[in-house]
Amino acid sequence: MWLRFVVILLLLLPHQSSEQEMNFTLPGQLASFLDRIGCVHRLHAITIVNSRDSISADYLDGLHRQLRANGSMHFQLLPQMTATDAHARVRFSALQDEDSLYVVFARDSRDPVIQLQAKRARGRRYSKTLFLLQKEEPLPALEEFFKLLWQLQFRSALVVVALRFFYQMDPYPKLRIKRLSHYDLMEIFPPSNSRNLNGYELHLPVQLDVPNTFWSQDTLNHEWRLDGAGGVMLNQLMAHLNVSLKVYPLSVNGSQWLNMPAIIELIASNRIELSVHLYDTMQASKRVDYSYPVHLETRCFMIPKDNEISRTLYVLLPFQWSVWLSVLLTLLVVHFLGVRRFVPDSQLWALMGVPGCRLSGCYQHHVHRTVSCYLVLFGICLIYQLYSTKLTSFLTVTLSHKLASSLEEILRLPYPILAQPLDVQHIVGSFGHAEEFGRMFSLTDAQTFARRRLNMAPGYIYPISRLRWKFYNRQQRSLKTKLFYLSSLCHGTFAYQFQLRIDSHFKDPLHRFSLHVQEAGLTNVWLDRCYYSARRLGYVREFTTAEELLKDVRPLALNLMAPAFSLFMFGLLVSFVVFLVEIRPQSCCRKASSNSSTH
Ligand SMILES: *[C@@H]1O[C@H](CO)[C@@H](O)[C@H](O)[C@H]1NC(C)=O
Ligand SMILES: *[C@@H]1O[C@H](CO)[C@@H](O)[C@H](O)[C@H]1NC(C)=O
Ligand SMILES: *[C@@H]1O[C@H](CO)[C@@H](O)[C@H](O)[C@H]1NC(C)=O
Ligand SMILES: *[C@@H]1O[C@H](CO)[C@@H](O)[C@H](O)[C@H]1NC(C)=O
Repeated sequence: MWLRFVVILLLLLPHQSSEQEMNFTLPGQLASFLDRIGCVHRLHAITIVNSRDSISADYLDGLHRQLRANGSMHFQLLPQMTATDAHARVRFSALQDEDSLYVVFARDSRDPVIQLQAKRARGRRYSKTLFLLQKEEPLPALEEFFKLLWQLQFRSALVVVALRFFYQMDPYPKLRIKRLSHYDLMEIFPPSNSRNLNGYELHLPVQLDVPNTFWSQDTLNHEWRLDGAGGVMLNQLMAHLNVSLKVYPLSVNGSQWLNMPAIIELIASNRIELSVHLYDTMQASKRVDYSYPVHLETRCFMIPKDNEISRTLYVLLPFQWSVWLSVLLTLLVVHFLGVRRFVPDSQLWALMGVPGCRLSGCYQHHVHRTVSCYLVLFGICLIYQLYSTKLTSFLTVTLSHKLASSLEEILRLPYPILAQPLDVQHIVGSFGHAEEFGRMFSLTDAQTFARRRLNMAPGYIYPISRLRWKFYNRQQRSLKTKLFYLSSLCHGTFAYQFQLRIDSHFKDPLHRFSLHVQEAGLTNVWLDRCYYSARRLGYVREFTTAEELLKDVRPLALNLMAPAFSLFMFGLLVSFVVFLVEIRPQSCCRKASSNSSTH
């Protein structure tokens, strides 16, 4: 019993000894504080940054001396860096790893050294940072200061005012300032909590970008609900992190359709933390951070598909024009050379059943003439058989031209390419042919572009990514003749990414989450499901065969019987011609028989 009590006492002792009253009036006090922090958190480096007049030179000297004073000091042999030049571009992240301690001396809460530190420490905001403000400040000014620190994403900051008063923030669920009187070394820089944000309120402006973001309004409490491939992913992540989302539609210049430059501007100016718009980044901005790519897709063209051949031309189609020409030539040769000249009594046409020619009784049996006559007959039957077989098979299907697939073929198409300026840049950048493309482009604003493309408005070629096409293409799946097809000509690989504030605290959880989502293959499942909710909410519509029929009015659309019917009509036409010729008695054969009688 006593032994146990002693053990507990021993365990408690070091904990209690680390709690002590703090003030940094002497450099030695600060040095020993830094030393303990370095020991406890196993830091690998220390960086001291100061602005002019924020600290006396003596104090700074003293601090440096004390940090190296004796062998038991944690930072004695570790790298120390003092940053001075405001114009140096080098970032701390290029020189130091994450386990570093930053000590920033500033005159007050509006000292530019704070912004400078934010710029230099890009990618290192999780590092422990100690801000020492020289002047005493009232609490509201301090609140503003912490708000700024939070916006600049300093995750692990301790603020010391006038070397005596210690403040810390607890950002979740709402930003709160904590005054410290004693310190516990482990708690003074708490480990970053990235799993449970305690109901942190995230205000999210959303713009329309089907299929990645769209929204619906709850009929009961009138709250906006986020939907779409990117929206579902973010909903899941935020539920996972215990963040409460406050979604609201954002309208820029009177349009709710996605305006990426405006979103980037909102993030860069610290007005929003995160954008839900999963977007194929074509031009990355340096003023925001991007998530890992959720998809990698190429961009292709969505081309109107009107390649059907008119049914009236089917009669001519079985043979190419060269074949038709040679058939005609052969017939002429057979008629004028064979029938007229060499074997006038072969009665070939009569055997063929050409109307008006009758077999005459005086039929002479010359063997070679009969054989050649039957050979020609055989040839003609063969050609006729070929023709009728092909025609019948054509009538049972719908024939179409070859679709344009190569760059030259696409450039020859009669449609303009509806595009936005950025698209133009990328298309010409990857395919060249600036002049030819220049003639085809028809520039428009984001809203018109997005709406026309989503509604599959005919008459234009649209640049589109493969992923989006997969979604849009479903709208026309029940059409017999599709409205659009995707070109096989594509360019680039573009990454679908979310946009975040630089070094946002959501970045790491988002990265981890998106990796899990990818591993599980959930993105495809979500995209599938989004189609149905988008259809239910009226963002997409399914084109139906009824519309197709209405479009080109065909009152007598006997679809099933049409081929048989047209074949029947063709037969009737031929019989009619035969009949017309037949009532003119033996016009063609009379000459032949009179010829043969003169021989
Ligand atoms: C700071 O601490 C030292 C010793 O710990 C003490 O003597 C001194 O009075 C303190 N200064 C202030 C301003 O509290
Ligand atoms: C070395 O530093 C330790 C801890 O700061 C201190 O306790 C000790 O007195 C110092 N020794 C000398 C010789 O300064
Ligand atoms: C989420 O945050 C709220 C508010 O702080 C808290 O009451 C709740 O327990 C948290 N939920 C989980 C699962 O941690
Ligand atoms: C809004 O429209 C004006 C005038 O057309 C334009 O100058 C401005 O850039 C637009 N704003 C955004 C965010 O697109």
